[in-house]
Amino acid sequence: MQPNSRFPSLGSASLAAAVAAGVISLAAPGLLGQNPDATVVVDANHPGARISPTMWGVFFEDINFGADGGLYAELVKNRGFEFPEPLTGWSESVPAGGAGSLAIHDDAPFNPANPHYLRLTATAAPGYGVINEGFRGMGVRAGETYLFSTQLRVPEGKPAAIRVELIDPAGAVLGSARIEGTAGGNGWSGVTAGIKPAATCAKARLKVLVEGAGVVDLDMVSLFPEKTWKNRPGGLRADMVNMLAEMKPGFVRFPGGCIVEGHYLTNRYQWKTTIGPVAERRLIMNRWNDEFKHRPAPDYYQSFGLGFFEFFQMCEDIGAEPLPILNCGMACQFNSGELVPLDQLDPYIQDALDLIEYANGGVTTPWGAKRAAAGHPAPFKLKMMGVGNEQWGMPYMDRYPKFAQAIHQRHPEIQLVASAGPAPADNNFRLAWANFRQWHADIVDEHCYAAPSWFLENDTRYDRYDRKGPKVFMGEYAAQSSGVAKPDNTNNLECALAEAAYLTGLERNAEVVRMASYAPLFGQVDAWQWTPNLIWCDNLRVWGTPSYFVQQLFARNRGDRVLPTMGMGVGRVYANAVWDEAAGEIILKVVNPARTATVVATRLSGVLSTGATMREFELAGAGPREVNSADSPNRVRVRSSEVEGVRPDFIRTFKPWSMTVLRIPAKIK
Ligand code: AHR
Repeated sequence: MQPNSRFPSLGSASLAAAVAAGVISLAAPGLLGQNPDATVVVDANHPGARISPTMWGVFFEDINFGADGGLYAELVKNRGFEFPEPLTGWSESVPAGGAGSLAIHDDAPFNPANPHYLRLTATAAPGYGVINEGFRGMGVRAGETYLFSTQLRVPEGKPAAIRVELIDPAGAVLGSARIEGTAGGNGWSGVTAGIKPAATCAKARLKVLVEGAGVVDLDMVSLFPEKTWKNRPGGLRADMVNMLAEMKPGFVRFPGGCIVEGHYLTNRYQWKTTIGPVAERRLIMNRWNDEFKHRPAPDYYQSFGLGFFEFFQMCEDIGAEPLPILNCGMACQFNSGELVPLDQLDPYIQDALDLIEYANGGVTTPWGAKRAAAGHPAPFKLKMMGVGNEQWGMPYMDRYPKFAQAIHQRHPEIQLVASAGPAPADNNFRLAWANFRQWHADIVDEHCYAAPSWFLENDTRYDRYDRKGPKVFMGEYAAQSSGVAKPDNTNNLECALAEAAYLTGLERNAEVVRMASYAPLFGQVDAWQWTPNLIWCDNLRVWGTPSYFVQQLFARNRGDRVLPTMGMGVGRVYANAVWDEAAGEIILKVVNPARTATVVATRLSGVLSTGATMREFELAGAGPREVNSADSPNRVRVRSSEVEGVRPDFIRTFKPWSMTVLRIPAKIK
């Protein structure tokens, strides 16, 4: 039998030789008489490369309403009236018999960084007010508390109260609160109130009414669930962070994605504008607002309520290394490609240096002091940083070394991620790699959005990479069921298994591949621009795609050392094994993307004995087109079980369209 190309023997030359010489037999005694489709031999005695703890991570970008309207739990859209159309998201509300008018002002604002505010002039008794539509509605749950807050000023009159209501799409009141005793005068004051809706509603809206006659100014009108991630006021959506925590990611890449670059440099991501009091974080247009004519999102802006402090804090919460990606003086090359002249890059380089100080500097340093003021005197232990997002060509080759030189000189402890461009093999990719090899770059970020077949055919891609060159970060990838950036792409099981097959090749090559992340991360079902995405949500629910479960299976079963794994036979299964030192377990991952069940004989060579029971995790579905959805989140899911009577030689049938992880307790010779 010839080694099957799906089980390359790279890194396991001794295993291949031992099999060839008959030292390791493929005809396991317990299996004689059976007729497997494939045989897998794992050489447990010769653990290979260490697997980086950052191997499987998360790519976060504010695309598809991933931050505002998604992970950031703020329910009010345009709370500061800073959208170019300052009343976007707001409409007038006139109760029967009431009357009034509204206007946007910017004189004597609450905060000069957020200069616009709303003036409500109520002229007749029951009052007058406004309604905020939220981000495609607001998701509220019966019995839970929602915290309303606003900055308020009463320049004229003495209205009886401010009444706030959560209303359903038909206008029925779900819950309300009344704020009395609003002080008159020219000063702004913050007021708060809790609202407990009596019913759950995915498309609620917020009404703010001035009761009685008077003039009231409002700014930073906000509504958050009380129950956020770790119950932090003004925090993140707990269910969405929980999905990330459940993956056990080794890192979080943030904030993107093309959003780092902007259409033009004016709307690039600038981390310094995303920290400090939220009213001081200047809003900009989200670059995905008008990117796709077929999915316009004219109400998509970045409030930066989820900014760099929140990013670092979330990474710490979920035990992931932060990987910030910074603009390198280049706007998105798919858009304007605007460039900062080479002799004017210093402010951009300084931003990178300052971010390192913000994350790691002592509390007496200027930027470390800002971190401490935000409530985190301890450093965030930043270890790596990306220079540019998805850049290519000579403009990047001219700029990257300037960043690398300055950052490495001041911070040799920081590993830098360099971009190999948008494609996994083209002239730009080759130019980038040729330079990065010469420059001894730390980590190179490769991207690939392609058909499932590309992933199935490229599981051996990294077998050929130079072991001594820069390390690889597969920083963006996803199998596309229809085509790149096509709106009819689906997150089906076929795509997920193609990714899984490919990931066995990354895992086998952990010596070269340091990190990998699927992209994009989140999609809001009513507000997305790009599909497929790893996790989908609506205003109340969040669910994992088959690809999410693949990521979870790899990350939760990462292991510490690669075990030489070889396979033979006709079955088109993909497999790799690793050793988990703490658990004392061999972890074998087997992906069967075929329409037929595959019988695999496994021989664990070099194993003295196996524990009595092994744990199995199986991801499977009824067919390749299966997808999960809000109403059926578990059509494709992981089932776990325990199997008794485990031996170093065993035979197992792998279901069609499945990925299986076997955790086998083992004593090694
Ligand atoms: O993941 C979506 C986009 O794809 C990213 O923003 C960009 O880096 C890539 O082109």
